Amino acid sequence: MAEKEIVETSEAEIAVHWGEEKFYHPSVKFIAQANMTDPAVYERFSLDNFPNCFKEYADLLDWYEYWDEILDTSDAPCWKWFKGGKINASYNCVDRHLAKNKNKTAIHFVSEPEDEKVEHITYQELFVRVNEFAALLQDFAGLKAGDRVTLHMPMIAELPITMLACARLGVIHSEVFGGFSGRACADRIVDSGSNVLITADAYYRAGKLLNHKQNADIAVDLAEKDGQKVDKVLVWQRYPGKVSSETPMVEGRDYFVNDVLKDYYGQRVDPVPMPAEAPLFLMYTSGTTGKPKGCQHGTGGYLAYVAGTSKYVQDIHPEDVYWCMADIGWITGHSYIVYGPLSLCASTVVFEGVPNYPDPGRPWRIAQNLDVNIFHTAPTAIRALRKIGPDEPAKYNYHFKHMTTVGEPIEPEVWKWYYEVVGKGEAAIVDTWWQTETGGFLCSTIPAITPMKPGSAGPGVPGIHAIIYDDEGNVIPSGAGKAGNICIQNPWPGGFQTIWGDRDRFVETYYARYCKDPKSKDWRDWPYMTGDAAVESEDGYYRILGRIDDVINVSGHRLGTKEIESAALVVEEVAEAAVVPVAHDIKGKEPDLYIALKPGLEASDELAQKISDTVCVEIGKIAKPRKVWIVTDMPKTRSGKIMRRVLGAISNDKDVGDVTTLANPEIVEEITKMAKK
Ligand code: PRX
Repeated sequence: MAEKEIVETSEAEIAVHWGEEKFYHPSVKFIAQANMTDPAVYERFSLDNFPNCFKEYADLLDWYEYWDEILDTSDAPCWKWFKGGKINASYNCVDRHLAKNKNKTAIHFVSEPEDEKVEHITYQELFVRVNEFAALLQDFAGLKAGDRVTLHMPMIAELPITMLACARLGVIHSEVFGGFSGRACADRIVDSGSNVLITADAYYRAGKLLNHKQNADIAVDLAEKDGQKVDKVLVWQRYPGKVSSETPMVEGRDYFVNDVLKDYYGQRVDPVPMPAEAPLFLMYTSGTTGKPKGCQHGTGGYLAYVAGTSKYVQDIHPEDVYWCMADIGWITGHSYIVYGPLSLCASTVVFEGVPNYPDPGRPWRIAQNLDVNIFHTAPTAIRALRKIGPDEPAKYNYHFKHMTTVGEPIEPEVWKWYYEVVGKGEAAIVDTWWQTETGGFLCSTIPAITPMKPGSAGPGVPGIHAIIYDDEGNVIPSGAGKAGNICIQNPWPGGFQTIWGDRDRFVETYYARYCKDPKSKDWRDWPYMTGDAAVESEDGYYRILGRIDDVINVSGHRLGTKEIESAALVVEEVAEAAVVPVAHDIKGKEPDLYIALKPGLEASDELAQKISDTVCVEIGKIAKPRKVWIVTDMPKTRSGKIMRRVLGAISNDKDVGDVTTLANPEIVEEITKMAKK
């Protein structure tokens, strides 16, 4: 059972360790307007009141039919929330706001080129566009409830429109991050069994209009070779009516949405009342093996959870302008750009570009111009902006009441810059720890109730009861100063339902290790294993140290080391590949790739380049290795296992420890010398 093994070099082992910091308290002004100021919320959401406490979140939504059972555990650990309920996510994010707020901006779309006008899409306009596209999906693409459709779309307003159109019909969307390669997209098309691909012709990134359509052609060809035929490719145009990509359209397969949409102008499609537990979307993420897993999120539970956490942790009010600078291609964007904020009738910003282009003042100009008052980003972006534009925020007249950090541990000194310079000492900060699998936040402070502590995510959010186990399954108490495997004792509505098409892997990966009784139907026997190492301080705040498995976090993007290794093995000269995480002062971590060639082959710079390029083609540029080290042999145990721990130490300039028991200890010195050059 690979998942049960602790890998030799985990992120946690090389994580930055910092001391306990003092508390920061939010301003009186913030508290006066906050959505959640009652400390009794923790009591209301205590384990004694579980699972009924989550009725409070379900009641933030409109239901066609109210549910009759809050939590069905009969198929443990595939939990079913709000059983018997009927609901539609598109209705909750769009239609229900029209009566009072139809002229309010739902989405501010900000193009990367600064000379292009910001597009302000009202709720009424969103309603019209979602309906028309849903009509097209239904009639032209032949999609119906339960079908899967793959989206490979960049950060344009049409992405949330597409997601909401799918949700309207009960079609399960599977958005693949726009920066992923055609190959990566093909794998997800095949796994989800999609016969429609929705993409865009082009988008801007760091000043260049990228040809995105070419990825669709690669994806469709490769998917077909792997047995999944895509009948239709729907292409949104970056500039409607204008050709922005030189890749030709394939007759009878590819269609410009803008052309076809004309037949659907003015059409309305009633939202389909979906069972609460019907899947809303799949989000693929990296795991221990090379194959990405499709996390299946349900409709009622997920939407209730993101609405609740958006309201109480993000403190979103309908009058707020909220900007999460993540990509919708990741779970953060699904939950906290699209479904959470729109379910609460906020105005949400969709920004096409990168934060530091054309200069590091860009985010703050956007904030000033749109009067953004809630800001959300990852430590990687904060570190980069701090490095290249430390004085920029002060030049702009914006005021945040609230800021979020997500995706990686944030160093206290970076946190303090975020607080003092970006937040101008006025904004409350939440450090939110969670995962693709969990749908929404697990640990964070509640901004008006629990004080902030730089470098710590905080306690479990209401209804999340974390627990830290050691490898033997003993509980590590708070304040013990010892790290262990952080688990969640109870289910919660935002948790994923299963891995698409692979229930066994779901149970094995997340529950097998600490399950008290595999036959049990009682949730108490099924702690959820997050795969992160953490320390709990005496005051109940959790500090997340990093992954215990072979997943690494590059710029807040999650990649499997096995995934990168499998990509390298596509190069025919490669015999063995090993990836280890290396600390990087902006990105958090970067992958270092060690390669052993097949016998008789010589290392060369060209070959190293070819391997690096192949990784980018197979996965995407985000997986590009920092360095490809071609070594004469890998350090191995006597049983032939590659010692990634040793390679990790070398790459991070750390002590390699005792290597005398290796089968080939001499290789360690050779590799160390090579890496030091
Ligand atoms: O290791 C944790 C880290 O990111 C992992 C989840 O990655 P992903 O599924 O891509 O979701 C990212 C956005 C939720 C976690 O297992 N992580 C996430 N948030 C934090 C974090 N590490 C430390 N502090 C955080 N706030």
